Amino acid sequence: MSRIAYVNGRYLPHRAACVHVEDRGFQFADGAYEVIAVRGDGFVDEALHFERLHRSLGELRIEPPMSDAALRAVMRETVRRNRVADGIVYIQVTRGAAPRDFAFPPGARPSLIMTARAQRALDPAILERGVRVITVPDIRWARPDIKSVALLPNALGKQRARETGAYEAWQVDRDGNVTEGTSSNAWIVTDSNTIVTRQADHAILNGVTRLGVLNAARGSGLAVEERPFSVAEAKAAREAFLTSTTNFVVPVVRIDDAAVGEGTPGDIVRRLRALYADRALKGVVR
Ligand code: PDD
Repeated sequence: MSRIAYVNGRYLPHRAACVHVEDRGFQFADGAYEVIAVRGDGFVDEALHFERLHRSLGELRIEPPMSDAALRAVMRETVRRNRVADGIVYIQVTRGAAPRDFAFPPGARPSLIMTARAQRALDPAILERGVRVITVPDIRWARPDIKSVALLPNALGKQRARETGAYEAWQVDRDGNVTEGTSSNAWIVTDSNTIVTRQADHAILNGVTRLGVLNAARGSGLAVEERPFSVAEAKAAREAFLTSTTNFVVPVVRIDDAAVGEGTPGDIVRRLRALYADRALKGVVR
């Protein structure tokens, strides 16, 4: 079956799905995006993703390309045409195509692109074993809280992880604190079983999965702290894990060359994964 992409009003076969050479997404990474998980034909945390898309667009002063109702309809049609029951849908909005100039072009119409693809659930062996992360300097701009399409530092970090056989790269700020992964949020569990993740300031993307895990943890009486943690604290932690739309909750058992805890997935991360998956699937919107 050939894949179909939505591009500015048309559903097109992938090979014909193109944006203009002067699209500002291509020229300047002048745009924002969202990735939403599709499970059993429904969308996980759709409302939170839409809320974050609006926040990103607002911060970048890009007009939404259409109403939420229309966006939802296009999203469903893109998923339907690609016959995705379990997978992901990408929504990308840029400031539009206009003659190249750094300043905003007057009257440009935002571009809207959507793609969808099937994706199998994570290999259970990965969850059983846990994964290794490496640490890399956080070389991003000062607003990673905006889900912008400017992802070059993230791509460089992920590539470094790939080349060293690691699953993800945790980015580290100038104070030696972990900000987040290249495409996921970073967490540890302390010796007193407190769950720690960085506060949602300008330095990280406030993950929708992060919010769900915080809720699930608090709802089941687990202690939670939102604060910075250093690489040294993470390496000495009892447990560690990462969260994202495509991964849900994944145990981290090694950071660089240090084993975390026993070097195997711990009880809290297992519990959180189950709690989160349960909550996410209950919240699916069709
Ligand atoms: N990653 N931090 C960064 C830099 C990200 O790119 C992502 C999302 C997250 C987690 O956010 P969420 O829980 O809303 O997906 C944190 C993409 C979507 C992913 O790999 O799933």
